[in-house]
Amino acid sequence: MARKKIIAGNWKMNMTPSEAVELVNTLKPLVANDDVDVVFCVPAIDIIPVVEAAKGSNIQIGAENMYFEEKGAFTGEISPAMLTDAGVKYVVLGHSERREYFAETSETVNKKMLKAFEHGITPIMCCGETLEQREQGVTMDFIRQQVKVGFLNVTADQAKTAVIAYEPIWAIGTGKTATTEQAEEVCKGIRECIAEIYDDATAAAIRIQYGGSVNAKTAPELFAQENIDGGLVGGASLKPDFGAIVNYNK
Ligand code: G3P
Repeated sequence: MARKKIIAGNWKMNMTPSEAVELVNTLKPLVANDDVDVVFCVPAIDIIPVVEAAKGSNIQIGAENMYFEEKGAFTGEISPAMLTDAGVKYVVLGHSERREYFAETSETVNKKMLKAFEHGITPIMCCGETLEQREQGVTMDFIRQQVKVGFLNVTADQAKTAVIAYEPIWAIGTGKTATTEQAEEVCKGIRECIAEIYDDATAAAIRIQYGGSVNAKTAPELFAQENIDGGLVGGASLKPDFGAIVNYNK
């Protein structure tokens, strides 16, 4: 089945609100490609001005995290309702940096997945192995566990709308992109895992991105792969070159 590509920028902890508006205005004409879903996942403080700046364009806005409670004594956290009220359509969950620095686990990712679906926010659930795990040959075992726990109690209909981002930790921010073969092999394995959890129709519908030093040179071959439905782009999404990545098919 033809899955619409989805190419998302993950700005991480970059761009003040003023810089964010400037970047959106710079990128707007460069990312006008109706063949793909274009998403900017931005820091919480930038969401409202970026939603405003992106109005009338093809750019959809995502958050980089959210909490799994509706409201209450969770200082510093952001609720799903706050995100939807601000115009957010996607949320990155379980990024390796949150797992490494902020005690995110697949169990908390699962709670956030369920809450995101409850509020109509499309999750982009991150998974990926360390270099040591790859060298030990346990990449797929590790990622299958992340996917199985992350998708616990997620219905097939919900899973069909979800996005999974395969981001090998050893390729994030290193300039070392995984090879096309490596990326396709793991994304295929993730899709097979979804087929085991649900069924072939769900596996065919879910979109799987690759992330990890994606750039304008590597994007076309990566995104042409059978099981790679786009990318989750860090550093390169903060530059005009992100337009070339979004227009990989032109
Ligand atoms: O979430 C995307 C990010 O982890 C990839 O970062 O800079 O390697 O494209 P980068």
